Amino acid sequence: MLKIGILGLGTVGSGVVKIMQQNSVNIHNKVGTDLKIEKILVNNINKERIVDIEPGVLTENESDILDNPAIDIVVELIGGEEPAYKYIMRAIENGKHIVTANKLVIAKHGKEIFKKAEEKNVQVSYEASVAGGLPIIRPLQNSLAANRIEKIYGILNGTTNYILTKMSEDNQSFEEALLKAQEMGYAESDPTSDVDGYDAAYKITILSSLAYQRFVDVENVYVEGIRNIAIDDIKFAKEMGYVIKLLAIAKNSDEGLDIRVHPAFVPENHTLAMINNTYNCVYLHGDAVGEVMSSAEGAGQMPTGSAVVADIIYISKNINYNKQEYPKIDSCQKNNIIDTKE
Ligand code: NDP
Ligand code: HSE
Repeated sequence: MLKIGILGLGTVGSGVVKIMQQNSVNIHNKVGTDLKIEKILVNNINKERIVDIEPGVLTENESDILDNPAIDIVVELIGGEEPAYKYIMRAIENGKHIVTANKLVIAKHGKEIFKKAEEKNVQVSYEASVAGGLPIIRPLQNSLAANRIEKIYGILNGTTNYILTKMSEDNQSFEEALLKAQEMGYAESDPTSDVDGYDAAYKITILSSLAYQRFVDVENVYVEGIRNIAIDDIKFAKEMGYVIKLLAIAKNSDEGLDIRVHPAFVPENHTLAMINNTYNCVYLHGDAVGEVMSSAEGAGQMPTGSAVVADIIYISKNINYNKQEYPKIDSCQKNNIIDTKE
């Protein structure tokens, strides 16, 4: 059995618990052992929760997770810069593997986190930090590793795409649509990060660092959000055959890296123009593979939970594989073969 400590039980944390509860047999078969949620850190232990949690699991004391020798993997889902960053570093110092959905912390402090993780020989996975349910981090690390990536662009923020969709299709005001996005749990706790483009900037920074194999400083990214887009702008764009979308763009050329986030006129017959609500969409150009495009829900409880639990499974398989003295089956095959007799 492997033991998991979760920091945060909000939108994403609740999705993670739901998926781990409803797919426990499937997850056991994939990992080869049970995964037990040992402790969950929250701000307020008395708050009503939307998931069933066993007595004694919730705690308001971070030490119950970060300094608990029984816990193998710490899943950081509290968001924001602090205390998330210091909790991640403390957990690594204590030899724990890390899963996080925190794009701000990975974009700003990834360098220090990965260095410390290497020193302590632990893994850090962050698939959910970019584009929620859309698989993009691991494809860049693995399936597309042979390529020199020339260009990455797309829609990387669900909240702003939701707002622009509602302003365009339902004539909702910016404020009304933002409020709904907050109620649905899509927006960051500080939604200025979404509407002013910083959330998308953190995400394109993470993708660029991976694709171009160098630390990209988010301070060097040009960022403009959607705060100044009015319904009239959307109407004029429509009359001219365009849809306004918040795009994140990274290009690698002889002149260097050009990374930016800003609203753009997208021709109405382009696929990006048809990506609505909280859907995200990423285009990649690799020198060998050519163009790769993928789209999925970029925010929300279950799509994001899907990416977080995938990271937990990935790390657990590696831990479990390394623990076996005489492994009968390697961890890659384990992905595809499920012995139904087990
Ligand atoms: P929420 O605000 O919904 O949840 C945050 C949780 O963390 C709450 O359970 C809260 O406790 C707890 N918490 C916050 N601060 C502290 C603290 N100092 N000490 C202890 N507990 C604390 O956030 P989300 O679930 O929306 O987001 C979590 C992370 O996932 C963020 O990094 C976000 O960027 C990322 N993300 C979010 C997505 C989404 O669709 N929401 C999609 C992709 C990534 P309490 O419940 O008691 O208040
Ligand atoms: N607030 C983010 C968004 C959550 O709306 O895209 C997913 O990272």
